[in-house]
Amino acid sequence: MPAVATVTEQIADLKRERRAIILAHHYQVDEIQELADSVGDSLELARRARDFDGEVIAFCGVKFMAETAKVLNPSRVVVLPDLEAGCSLVDSCPASQIRAYKLRHPDHVIVSYINTSVEVKAESDIICTSRNAVKIVNSIPADKPILFLPDMNLGNYVKKESGRQNMTIWQGACIVHHTFAARKLVAAKSEHPQAVVAAHPECPAEVLRHADFIGSTSAIIDWCVAQPAREYIVMTESGVSHSLKKLAPEKEFYFVANENCNCSECPYMKRNNLENLRDALLNLSPRIELDEETIRRAALPIERMLAVK
Ligand code: 13P
Ligand code: SF4
Repeated sequence: MPAVATVTEQIADLKRERRAIILAHHYQVDEIQELADSVGDSLELARRARDFDGEVIAFCGVKFMAETAKVLNPSRVVVLPDLEAGCSLVDSCPASQIRAYKLRHPDHVIVSYINTSVEVKAESDIICTSRNAVKIVNSIPADKPILFLPDMNLGNYVKKESGRQNMTIWQGACIVHHTFAARKLVAAKSEHPQAVVAAHPECPAEVLRHADFIGSTSAIIDWCVAQPAREYIVMTESGVSHSLKKLAPEKEFYFVANENCNCSECPYMKRNNLENLRDALLNLSPRIELDEETIRRAALPIERMLAVK
């Protein structure tokens, strides 16, 4: 009797049949990162999706990332294993409120973090990610007022780094990073006095104040791998430990639990698993479907971001 194929083998077969690529964010479960063609931060995955010339993009991340892939490469089929893989930042910022803001403030340049719905992107002037947010804000003429949305912590960080004063910041937050408490980080530092600290800019200012390095998920991984230190406190979602352990097995990485749970996991990112990835490749569903006009309007600010050197 032939052996029953494992889920991983089924995924590999389906990937070949469908001419698919599997893109995974660093916050995906280990098993998905292990079989992905590319693991990266939101900017790297957007670029990889744009350049893909096969048929199907299986996006293992959250919905706004899969939407961005579809906008950048609309002739591909883009599947997301679970359409409920959302993001609290997206939820904090409905497109109707941005349209209303634009009517009241027609002179403002709308700089939107990539963690927004495709409808909000369509209302935006330029997109940024945690990797390039300071550079994007610096690319806007100094006399132009900015609305930066939706993450208040990233906005405050960018304002501080760029020295930009004419910048209004939306008051959205990430349920994972915003609930990291500085007192827990301080406790971790006293428990591991030799450790250096890397943090994602979605963390509150009182956490970032203790960081030796601030950057996107991939930038955090690259920094930890390159540093001479042996111990690290990592203030982001614990999925990055997969690459960290692989790339720097001799080092120790400590994660601080956030206030919502005894972990530092994004519940949206963790909705994807091997089974629903296999099913998505099999059924080509759930699929990201966007109308042409939304794609056209959302592509402009994303392409503007990608053009900033
Ligand atoms: P990165 O762009 O750093 O991958 O971050 C995405 C994200 O959702 C962080 O919470
Ligand atoms: Fe959104 Fe936070 Fe999850 Fe990133 S970690 S997808 S910002 S809820």
